[in-house]
Amino acid sequence: MSNNSSAVQAYRASILHFTKAPTVTGEGVVFFDDGLLVVRDGKIYALDHAETLLTELKLQNIEFELIDKTGQWIMPGFIDSHIHFPQINIIGSYGEKLLDWLNNYTFPAEMKFSNKAYAEQIADVFVQELLASGTTTAMVYCTVHEHSVDAFFQASQKYGTCMLAGKVLMDRHCPEALRDTPITGYEQSQALIDRWHGNGRQLYTVTPRFAPTSTPEQLTFTGKLLQENTSVYMQTHLSENIGEIAWVKELYPQYKNYLDVYDGFGLLGSRSVFGHCIHLSDDELTRMSETNSKIAFCPTSNLFLGSGLFELQKAKDFAVKTSIATDVGAGTSFCQLQTLAEAYKVNQLNDYALHPFEAFYWLTLGNAECLELEQNIGNFETNKIADFIVLDFESTPLMKHRMSLCNELHEKLFLLMTIGDDRNISETYVAGKCVYS
Ligand code: GUN
Ligand code: ZN
Repeated sequence: MSNNSSAVQAYRASILHFTKAPTVTGEGVVFFDDGLLVVRDGKIYALDHAETLLTELKLQNIEFELIDKTGQWIMPGFIDSHIHFPQINIIGSYGEKLLDWLNNYTFPAEMKFSNKAYAEQIADVFVQELLASGTTTAMVYCTVHEHSVDAFFQASQKYGTCMLAGKVLMDRHCPEALRDTPITGYEQSQALIDRWHGNGRQLYTVTPRFAPTSTPEQLTFTGKLLQENTSVYMQTHLSENIGEIAWVKELYPQYKNYLDVYDGFGLLGSRSVFGHCIHLSDDELTRMSETNSKIAFCPTSNLFLGSGLFELQKAKDFAVKTSIATDVGAGTSFCQLQTLAEAYKVNQLNDYALHPFEAFYWLTLGNAECLELEQNIGNFETNKIADFIVLDFESTPLMKHRMSLCNELHEKLFLLMTIGDDRNISETYVAGKCVYS
């Protein structure tokens, strides 16, 4: 990590951000081929054409350090709305669909986090991997162990990142060593909320794993946590796999559908993020929309576990807001560029051509809006926190060759999301400080 010596830094590069959900004709897209991003005390101070802004800074007698990134691109840091930190250890595990994958790989891996020092070590590796992928904010599942959340937030504090995370709540249908109880899960979550929610940039997320691993008593206490702590978030899994949906029906027969189980315990709302949502009925989408609940679309995971094809257009038709996420370790990459590549292919199979403007809005302002963080991050509006990345658009010989044949902004962005990967991420800045290079 480096500390910049001057209070004001001016980064010269090609700069892209979004001011609203973009149209394909470019409304909401702001791009400076030769731009200047000015950062003061870790916040965005100004953004404009380089020549214009350099003249203005001089006129105003503002001292600054000029950091020349000409030839590279700057974008807001990427945001990932669904990822599991302990599962960095099982990314790329062979052969299973969701329920067997959980039993054979996930639960054994998560059991190792009973060791606090181990949890701390993996948390640091995990945050470094996010930063190396250009992700500066993520909504994260820890394990059932209270100290796994301390380990994760401590690692996040070290780099100054804004993270949303929580202790997994799970009191049945998993190994004994991973079970809490309705009361201990409630008490530990409350203690973590008191310690971490709003501590620096950390935000607590109440985290029932999914309906099958919680008793109705535990979901009752989960709802109570949300009622008693109105500004915290909630994350869980919903309608990912056909076998899972049938199991929920057996376990909760009195409910109309899978979402209705969560609804019955008061878990829906604008700060509630539901991972996957592949097989939702019209009734469920209607209720998601009424409650302004959010979807996390996890394309690499949905393909890897053979879970199904998420229908983005359908979510839009029901006015349900969708974010995009990696879902490591069922997801196969930390890199949101690769995630977009898979999102494009999933949507192609559903006859929806994901436009690159929509795609990059999604990774930045779109996901920030889904997580209700757009006051602070997601684009380069003045006074937002300076979380940004520097990208190399010529990171491989193929990329350089093919990029030289692109003229339009949308062509370049589409190429980046189609053949790009973490080699395109040169540097990552958090609150104006370089934390990865
Ligand atoms: N459903 C319940 N737990 C999990 C998990 O860890 N990963 C995925 N992809 N789905 C889940
Ligand atoms: Zn998940």
